[in-house]
Amino acid sequence: MDIIAKMESIRIVPVLVLNDLKEGLQVCEQLCRCGLPAAEITFRTAAAEEVIREASKQFPEMFIGAGTVLNVKDLHRAFEAGAKFAVAPGFNPTVVKEAMANNFTFAPGVCTPSECEQAMELGCKFLKFFPAEAAGGIPFLKSLAAPYKHLGIRFMPTGGVKPSNAADYLAIPEIACVGGTWLNKTDDETVKAAVELAAQFKK
Ligand code: 3PG
Repeated sequence: MDIIAKMESIRIVPVLVLNDLKEGLQVCEQLCRCGLPAAEITFRTAAAEEVIREASKQFPEMFIGAGTVLNVKDLHRAFEAGAKFAVAPGFNPTVVKEAMANNFTFAPGVCTPSECEQAMELGCKFLKFFPAEAAGGIPFLKSLAAPYKHLGIRFMPTGGVKPSNAADYLAIPEIACVGGTWLNKTDDETVKAAVELAAQFKK
């Protein structure tokens, strides 16, 4: 799967923190109904694996990934449950290598050139930029991405991305998509506004 092409078509990925299966399925139903069939379901709660498994079955049109994948055990739990990709806040070479060995798309988190280069050396082209706003936001990301422009590296900023700054991030060519918890358990209007924003920045 070309994860960069897929993320460039989605552009906004809801980052979900879900307490149980019922809640997870409700949120996934809402996202599909409102036109945003994508989610990063974080392993910050015990419900993540089960929600990924059931939502993947009930909403086959949804592009579901796992977030906060901090170790090899959770990586396996994610892809065995049916996640199409996984991400993490940090760069853990053990997890990156395990994902590569299993031909599973994994975007480690980076916020320094050294982390970018270590991830790139292991074959990653799609990187999560975390924590985006706290690390320096758009000016920082532009500087970080500049030396790797010719290599086609693409970023997914998360951490402080919200409706008021998402458009500015999406305007940067090296950004494939943005992610955020502002779409976690929200109202339909907020989801629909994100769908409209993503459409404005369709690649
Ligand atoms: C993540 O896991 O990607 C971030 O915690 C999301 O950050 P946000 O809560 O600021 O959107």
